[in-house]
Amino acid sequence: MTIAEKVNVTTGFNGNCVGQTGQVPRLGLTALCLEDGPLGVRPVRRVSQFPAGVTTAATWNRDLMAARGTALGQEFHDKGVNIWLGPVTGGPLGRSPFGGRNWEGFGSDPYLHGVASYMTVQAAQAEGVVTCSKHYIAYEQETFRDGFTILTSTNQLPISSNLDDKTAHEVYLWPFAEAVRAGTGTIMCSYNEVNGSHACADDHTLNQVLKQELGFQGAILSDWGGTWDTESSALAGMDVTMPGSGFSGFLGDFFGDELVALVENGTVPEARLDDMVLRVLTPILQHQDLSTYPQPTFNANDITAPTNNVRRDHYKVIQAIGQEAITLVKNNRKTGGGLPLPAPASMSSLAVIGEDASASLYGATSCGNSGSSCLIENNGTVTTGGGSGWAFPPYTIDPLAAINAFVCADGPDINQHLENWDLGAAAMQASQSEAALVFISAYATEGTDRLNLTAYSQGDALVEAIAAVNKNTIVIMHIPGPIIVESWIDHPNVTAVLVAHLPGQESGNSLVPVLWGQASPSGKLPYTFAKQESDWPPNNIVSTDVFAPQADFTEKLLFDYKAHLFHFRQIRWFDAKNITPRWEFGFGLSYTDFTYGELSIAKTFKVDNTSIQPTSEPFLKSTTNPGSSMYDILYTATITVKNTGSVSGAEVAQLYVSFPESEGEPPSSLRGFDKLALAPGESGVATFELTRKDLSVWDVQSQRWEIPQGTFKLSAGASSRDFRSVVSHSFA
Ligand code: NOJ
Repeated sequence: MTIAEKVNVTTGFNGNCVGQTGQVPRLGLTALCLEDGPLGVRPVRRVSQFPAGVTTAATWNRDLMAARGTALGQEFHDKGVNIWLGPVTGGPLGRSPFGGRNWEGFGSDPYLHGVASYMTVQAAQAEGVVTCSKHYIAYEQETFRDGFTILTSTNQLPISSNLDDKTAHEVYLWPFAEAVRAGTGTIMCSYNEVNGSHACADDHTLNQVLKQELGFQGAILSDWGGTWDTESSALAGMDVTMPGSGFSGFLGDFFGDELVALVENGTVPEARLDDMVLRVLTPILQHQDLSTYPQPTFNANDITAPTNNVRRDHYKVIQAIGQEAITLVKNNRKTGGGLPLPAPASMSSLAVIGEDASASLYGATSCGNSGSSCLIENNGTVTTGGGSGWAFPPYTIDPLAAINAFVCADGPDINQHLENWDLGAAAMQASQSEAALVFISAYATEGTDRLNLTAYSQGDALVEAIAAVNKNTIVIMHIPGPIIVESWIDHPNVTAVLVAHLPGQESGNSLVPVLWGQASPSGKLPYTFAKQESDWPPNNIVSTDVFAPQADFTEKLLFDYKAHLFHFRQIRWFDAKNITPRWEFGFGLSYTDFTYGELSIAKTFKVDNTSIQPTSEPFLKSTTNPGSSMYDILYTATITVKNTGSVSGAEVAQLYVSFPESEGEPPSSLRGFDKLALAPGESGVATFELTRKDLSVWDVQSQRWEIPQGTFKLSAGASSRDFRSVVSHSFA
């Protein structure tokens, strides 16, 4: 290749995809097509709208995570997309509950997020598409995120995420290491700055950490408008600029002729350019035979252009994930109400209340291709968030549609009220019904952080109005992250609450089996619900409007439940009060009961056979724990779980590690989970395989992972606070 040809492979151009590289016609190399997004091919028709990442995480089911990755991989492949701009891999991870994009990824814990990232990347790439794990790194707020919208107007730099080395390794890098291990072909650098450098021009995080320490062999591509300068990005390790001259160049026309000149005059070594091209083409050629791989079948700039239907039978996995994600957080059966509902034939009336219960009055395409919810009110049931992480649904089975279909033969009369503003009329329907299902929602989107943590369209007032007149008020929430539920949660007439997350196109079909007890809810929360905003770590969305806004990650390792556990310790210590969370990370009830046996730990060395692209993360070698990989399995912990109730159900047994106190680590950190489906009376063994990394902390001084000396505590249980068996152990 000539220099100009090589540069073409590294630069974005205009075309029918959200991004495409340049061609090298002389060698038969066509443009590579890059397309959003994490829950479906966007903005493209004749595709599925999958459950969001956060919903998938709430299943805690590895098989479903992989099944979603497979199905998404097939749709991107069949549309002719070479690089899928997903999944979101811990950027954002959810440092702030206000984060506009938290729902795109897999919840607010690095370990859970890492498992889901690994499963998704591996499964999707097996279908031929190359994944792009994003957004690297410490991209935790939308406010002040990007220069291309703010530089022109106010001359402002993007937010700088300022974090220390230990926090970077143990929290934000962890899920990316899992994506690298799973073999991700590309990674997207983010809009924000990291410790004062643009993330797409940061030698430390790109060259030194991602490419050297993790040994990432694929390409780093910029977020759309994340490049600020050709020379510094190229030298810092960025391999592709997007969209380059695409989008008419308005996001910054970098690389291209400028890179040719910099290589020709020796500023950027030609070896660096060769490296860029190899990093782009190696994963592509590993997974795709470009002579047979489909060409794009759509035009992302024209959603009316004819295109192929790639949905196969993916509605099944969409329904299954939506159903398994549903998390029961309150259920009071004492007064004869709560969930599951009685058999349909034994009910005469059921109220279905709220705009979130039924379809958007304006249709799926009413907002063009930008997001599903451009209207503030009456926008219909929330199945997804907005922005580039959104996808068109081919149809939406809303909750009311699925309920009507279920009760049609012999079930209750349905008394519906499908807006949130006429509380009197809504209460009238509920007062005539044996039970009332109240649907509330919240919406989040790329480009802006959440304005508040309350339900959308006065959902709280709606719940209160219904609970005032109906003794069996059941709340269902379609939400992108936590909301504050304190105004109504303890109302005695609120008998049950389900978090149904963002379920995608099969929303109602996922919900009905849980409502009527054909399936017991088995989701667990992938983030914590607090009682008030001030219970989250402070400074979490910086909105101080200065030239160079700074977000200092002063909470360090105390992320989500770890912060709450930390508070909890302080409560005990200072006898303070009222800072226990509403529902903690990992929490979720069932229609049945589970008991746990005793946790046991055995030394069981197993050579790492899960790293498709082995990392080169440095660690302290020891004779106690031999082996050459961070991902060798050193110990296996097991615990028996028994279904002691009267219906079938599934329990997500969780393992938390407490490092020796001297390490200053959070009180406990998730290091394993196992979901067991159990019939009444049945027992199963939950197994947690502990890798070297699971037992290590990042030692800043020696710049390596080390298993600390001293006594660990391992706790197994039903949530991050509900430990059923605790053992002490030394590993070093
Ligand atoms: C910006 C978003 O941050 C990124 O996730 C997306 O892939 C690109 N835009 C392209 O739409």
